[in-house]
Amino acid sequence: MTEINEIMYKNYQKEINECLLRITAKKPELQKIICEAMEYSLSAGGKRLRPMLVLEFARLCGDDYKKYLEIACCLELVHTFSLIHDDLPCMDNDDFRRGRPSCHKIYPESIALLAGDALNTLPFEIITDKAVEGVISCETAVKLVNVLSKAIGVNGMIGGQVIDIEAENRRISLDELNTLQSLKTGALIKASCVMGCILANRDDLIPFAESYADCVGRAFQIVDDILDVEGSFEELGKPIGSDSESKKSTYVTILGLEKSKEISEKLTKDALDVLENFDDTEFLKDVTKYLLVRKN
Ligand code: IPE
Ligand code: IPE
Ligand code: MG
Ligand code: MG
Ligand code: MG
Repeated sequence: MTEINEIMYKNYQKEINECLLRITAKKPELQKIICEAMEYSLSAGGKRLRPMLVLEFARLCGDDYKKYLEIACCLELVHTFSLIHDDLPCMDNDDFRRGRPSCHKIYPESIALLAGDALNTLPFEIITDKAVEGVISCETAVKLVNVLSKAIGVNGMIGGQVIDIEAENRRISLDELNTLQSLKTGALIKASCVMGCILANRDDLIPFAESYADCVGRAFQIVDDILDVEGSFEELGKPIGSDSESKKSTYVTILGLEKSKEISEKLTKDALDVLENFDDTEFLKDVTKYLLVRKN
């Protein structure tokens, strides 16, 4: 990434991190343990890709993105919920996440489970609060809730996780794998880009945001699968070899490393082409290229 774009990404991350801390600041005495568990997983770091995409698409659509920081953070709340649950013993059974012990390794499994649940419902409180406060219109809030809830549910991330579990220990077709990947990872990435357009009141740009996200979402998960084989624990902050241990079906197991790299490069190129439909895309193009060569 160029120096100026790196500064811009770091600035986004700083604003997102500060906003996330504000969101979990209040901790009611009797049940404060769940707020601490939520904050533990949220503050462990992470690329903050999804909230950044919300803000960046709002900006590309010509809006002043700063007023949407909390709404953008909703995507990080949902994403962190998905990671806490993904690491649980009944799911991928991984002990490390974002360079720290997983949530259920620090807090009881019951609390980790509930922290995930709470992170999944908080976004709907935040988005509807913003409508009540008049920051966004009720119509915009309904559109956002509609897009986000669909992206999380049976036809979104959760559905993808189910296909992922059911694909363990057996060979699946490439079509099935594409559906798996585009749901478990692509759905939230797509919701992020689309929600940016909705916030900026540019529904006409949603098809382009969706096409971009389709490509980036698939490339992102292919790179995640490659890093599970070629990455290092120190850089990733999560265990390597987790997929082969759980006998997962991934791009690497089905197509091999070389072909997987080829496909992720092609998808990245396609994503960059879609960005030609927007102005002022230097930053997002640079981020899109970085996602292909990322080490974590
Ligand atoms: C990891 O997501 C899980 C997948 C969907 C592949 P990220 O790679 O975005 O994780 P963080 O947020 O940076 O930790
Ligand atoms: C998980 O995919 C995607 C989610 C919905 C969390 P992975 O299981 O491959 O994610 P990592 O590798 O544990 O981050
Ligand atoms: Mg998983
Ligand atoms: Mg996992
Ligand atoms: Mg993975």
